[in-house]
Amino acid sequence: MSAVRLARAATGRKIIVKFEGCYHGHSDSLLAKAGSGVATLNLPDSAGVPEEFVRFTLTLSYNDIAPVEKVFAERGREIAAVIVEPVAGNMGCVLPWKGFLEGLRALTEKHGALLLFDEVITGFRIAYGGAQEHFGIRADLTTLGKIIGGGLPVGAYGGRADLMDQIAPLGPVYQAGTLSGNPLAVSAGLAALRELKKPRTYERLEALGAELGDGLAAAARAAGVRVEVNRCGSMLTVFFTADPVTDYASAKRSDTARFARGHRALLERGVYWPASQFEAAFVSLAHTEADIDQTLGAARQAFAAAK
Ligand SMILES: Cc1ncc(COP(=O)(O)O)c(C=O)c1O
Repeated sequence: MSAVRLARAATGRKIIVKFEGCYHGHSDSLLAKAGSGVATLNLPDSAGVPEEFVRFTLTLSYNDIAPVEKVFAERGREIAAVIVEPVAGNMGCVLPWKGFLEGLRALTEKHGALLLFDEVITGFRIAYGGAQEHFGIRADLTTLGKIIGGGLPVGAYGGRADLMDQIAPLGPVYQAGTLSGNPLAVSAGLAALRELKKPRTYERLEALGAELGDGLAAAARAAGVRVEVNRCGSMLTVFFTADPVTDYASAKRSDTARFARGHRALLERGVYWPASQFEAAFVSLAHTEADIDQTLGAARQAFAAAK
């Protein structure tokens, strides 16, 4: 919410481009065709958001650069920012096609708009430097959350110094909150970041993520259940569909009844999988090889139960 306000202030423009199935928090202007709980509950948007509030939000299809080129050609001078989950987590895990993020970077630069990476999930997860390190693309503004609180509630945004200097009291963009800079949350976050900075952290997360993702795909095959496993490092989703999942429309083709049966079967076997087809599962540093083995053992039975 604050990063979008800053982007609008810095560019003097109103339009925000977002992508179907991406979720950027529950602020009014971003609750259009959003992912996460909105996708799980199958809501197109939220009640209580006047249509005038989302008039300046354009929602396009993830991984499709042609419509982005078109809106920039038509309304480039009105677009303040493109906001994107660089690896989507809120329609389930969906990886960007080669060229998609690069295209967003080039188009925003060309038209004087800002590129806003929402790294609330990917930040410090797919690399210490998040998706920007992983893909080698630098955004103008970045939002962070989750991991940076080390389990405590915190959110943050940052970016180019000339943009951040526009936040009050240095600049005219106001932002404040009772819990902003909360010392407890920030201390927990710093402790988490110190752990993540230790050697071989991300190699370990990649290895455990691969073991889990490959193991789940093999377990589904053995049970005769068609699934697509999307994975980036330690984040992954098992979609109950036979076709590749590359955007919100293809994610929504998943068989959610089958997912629910599989989820229940996992719960009964002591594995608490994310409770929606449209969420990503995460491997953390607290997980061990034994946890992965236990999960795969349960999954072999759960896939059979889900059929
Ligand atoms: C990518 C992304 N952005 C933003 C948010 C919103 O975070 P919060 O509800 O803490 O504002 C989430 C929460 O799930 C998220 O996954």
